[in-house]
Formats: sequence, C-alpha cells, structure tokens
Amino acid sequence: MKMWAGRFSEQNAKEVDIFNNSLHFDKVLYKYDILGSIAHVKMLSKQNIISKDDEEKLVKSLNDLMKDIDEGKVIFNEEYEDIHMAVESILTDRIGDSAKRIHTCRSRNDQVALDMKMYVKEEIKEVISLLKDLLYTLLEMAKDNTKTIMPGYTHMQRAQTVTFAHHLCAYSEMFRRDIDRLQDTYKRTNVMPLGAGALACSTFDIDRDYVAELLDFDSITLNSLDTVSDRDYVIELLNDLAIIMMHLSRFSEEIIYWASDEFKFIVVSDKYSTGSSMMPQKKNPDVAELIRGKTGRVYGNLMAMLTVMKGIPLAYNKDMQEDKETTFDSVNTVKQCISIFTGMISTITVNKDVLKEACVNSFMNATDVAEYLVKKGCPFRDAHFIVGNLVGKCVNEDKFLQDLSLNEFKEQSGLFEDDIYEVLHVTTGMNKKNMTASPKEEIVKKYIEKILDEIK
Ligand code: ARG
Repeated sequence: MKMWAGRFSEQNAKEVDIFNNSLHFDKVLYKYDILGSIAHVKMLSKQNIISKDDEEKLVKSLNDLMKDIDEGKVIFNEEYEDIHMAVESILTDRIGDSAKRIHTCRSRNDQVALDMKMYVKEEIKEVISLLKDLLYTLLEMAKDNTKTIMPGYTHMQRAQTVTFAHHLCAYSEMFRRDIDRLQDTYKRTNVMPLGAGALACSTFDIDRDYVAELLDFDSITLNSLDTVSDRDYVIELLNDLAIIMMHLSRFSEEIIYWASDEFKFIVVSDKYSTGSSMMPQKKNPDVAELIRGKTGRVYGNLMAMLTVMKGIPLAYNKDMQEDKETTFDSVNTVKQCISIFTGMISTITVNKDVLKEACVNSFMNATDVAEYLVKKGCPFRDAHFIVGNLVGKCVNEDKFLQDLSLNEFKEQSGLFEDDIYEVLHVTTGMNKKNMTASPKEEIVKKYIEKILDEIK
C-alpha cells in the first residue's frame, strides 16, 4: 500500500504508477537524500521531537543503507514511487516504528529541494574542477606557442596577425567566465530549504539553522512558499552549462575547419579521430562534431525547464519533477564533453609553418601601414583610403603590399619612405602593441603566468 493511501478507496491505474514514478532517474540522489535525512533526524532529536533512541536507530540504519546502496546491494522496488519514498520504505522494513517518525515536520517538497540543491552544489564543484583542468591544458599549450603567428579573422577573412597562444587564451577567458558564473550560481544555491514542509512549515519548534550547519549551507530560505517552488538554481545551472557548451562548440567548430584540407592549420591525433566505413582515406574529427552536436540538447534542457516553470502557480506542483532528467542529462553531457575536449585539444599538432605562411601571404599588415601614415601626420580616414587603393592595386596585379616598390608607394602618398618595409614585416605591427589584451608575446606570457597562478 502507498504511504499516502489513507484517504484513497481505489488503487491507482497501472499506467498512473508508471507515469508518476521518478525512481528510475531520481535514485541518483540517494546520497543527498540520506545525508539530508540524517541531519533532519539529528535536529528532531535535539529539539526533543523524537527520542535519542529513535535518533540512534535512524542514523545507524541510514548509514547502513547508504553503504548498501554504494555497494550495489539494494534493488529498488519500482513501487516506491521516488527516492524519498524508497529510503523511508526500506528503513521502515528494516527498523519499523522509528522509521515511521522520520518524516515528522518534513514533506517531500522541501526534501526534494534539499536533495537537488545538494546535488547542484556538488556538481558545480566537479564542473569547475574539470574546467580548471581544461584551462591548465590550454595555458600550457599557449606557453609553447607565444611565438606561433597565425591569422586573426573577422567575418572569416584574414584580418590582423595574432599568435596561436593568443587564440587559445581567448578561450581561457571564456572558461574563466564560466567558472565565475558557476561560483555565482553556487552562492544562490547555498541556501538551505528544509523546514518549509509541504508549503507552510510545521507546528513543531524545529531548528533550521542547525540543519543548515550540519549540511554545510551558508544560510536558510526565508519564505516557505518560495522554498518549495523555487527552481531558479536549477535553471541557473542549466544556463551556465549551456554557455559552457556554446564555448566548447565554437572551439570545436574551429578544430573542425583547422583540421580540414582547406586550412591544414592543425592535425587532430588519431586517438581522437574516426574513419569512414566506405572511404578509406577519411580521418574525421567526430569528437569535435559530437560536442558541437550535443550543445543542442544542453540548450534544449535549459529551454525545457524555463518552459516547465513559467506557468506554475505557488507552491509545489508535480511539473517540477521534470527538473531531474533535464539537469542530470546536462550535467553528465557537459562533464563528458569538457573531459574529452581536454584530451582532444592537448593532443593536436600545430602546423606552425602553414600558420606562418597564411600570415605572410596576406594583407594583414594593411592596418599597420595606415597607422604608419597617421604617425607621419596623415588623417586616419585619408590613410585608410590610400592603403585601400594600394591593396586594390595589389589584388589586380596578384601581389602583396610587401611586393610593391617604394615608387609605387610614393605614387599614392609622399609620406612613404624606406622605413615602410620594416612596418610590412609580418610581426612588426604585433610587437608594437604593448597594451593589456594585445597578442604581443610578452603580454600573452604575462597573461599566462597570471592565470596559471590564479587557478593553482
Ligand atoms: N518526486 C518528486 C519531485 O521530484 C518529489 C516531490 C513530490 N511531492 C509531492 N507532493 N508529490 O518533485
């Protein structure tokens, strides 16, 4: 018989049991459900709501149950409905009356909020740790590539010279913001919900601060209705995870085209590539493609939860059970993607000569030429036009700016002198850029040191 069946005279339809049941996915919360229950029991005993004897029996059997589940010794009976019912039922089977007291002053509504918050806190720590591994990998690679010049693009057109290190560090900035966002979400998740009961607390003199202290929460929630109907922290996490995937997906897209025959900027290691069943020559960047693809489902989970929550009146409604599969799926997907991406990126080979060639055979020095004229007194807009004309001429004659004679430069402006050829050299412009955020070797090196120190 169901625990709540006192007022029922008929059994549920079989399909309702199946439809309502969440145990097959929420059983992953068992650890938090048990730890939360232990804290609850200790508080009930401290407040003389249950006896010392009940406390001892309950704490012992909750710990035993945790161990048994850890060791795979518990087979969950699907009749239990959800993880909370499962834990209470198993305890009742094992120790009888004491277990029937465990749910005093508690509802599954505040209990599930507690479990989810504990889960979110734990997973945030894990995702941050994986992101730090990735950051470390990127920065170590960047260290080896502060001299590796490559084209920087806008509109996918060669724009200005940067370095491979500078490009990697652009992603390290994204992942640093991701860590920051997760830490921020952690702060708002770190507020203890237990004690709100079903929606309006209970008549017993409970000590919520004590529970918060036992479970390592910073503070307690302040409104019982909000406590049981708040899933903001879930949505924030799903959002943080969606943004991480957006970053990984952009990076994956670059890996994919860098590895193409058209670019040949990098070689993805065999360990992280796959072949074709029909075309013998193929070596495909499936890992990067799958990460790009899985971004879709992580976005979808965020949109699903925003939609689930948008029309729910206060307080708890069963719609909210839909937070589990979306959250678990996003967390598992993102953890797997960060980890495999770290392996893939750390094993690529950078074709430094190809990258350099792409810089030399380009007009990426054109802006530096315009700034050269400006330094000699020419207004920037005029300088832009003059250099534009020179580029147009080169395009027609199939050459680059550095191939022009001094006379050809002078035909456009009398300000050009012999020192223009130094300006045209592939790294001259970049090396003059001394400000923070610049791709210049020394600036990037300083950045790498600073961030490596920060994530230590
Ligand atoms: N399995 C439920 C969930 O995940 C737990 C809370 C159920 N509460 C209730 N009153 N039916 O949301």
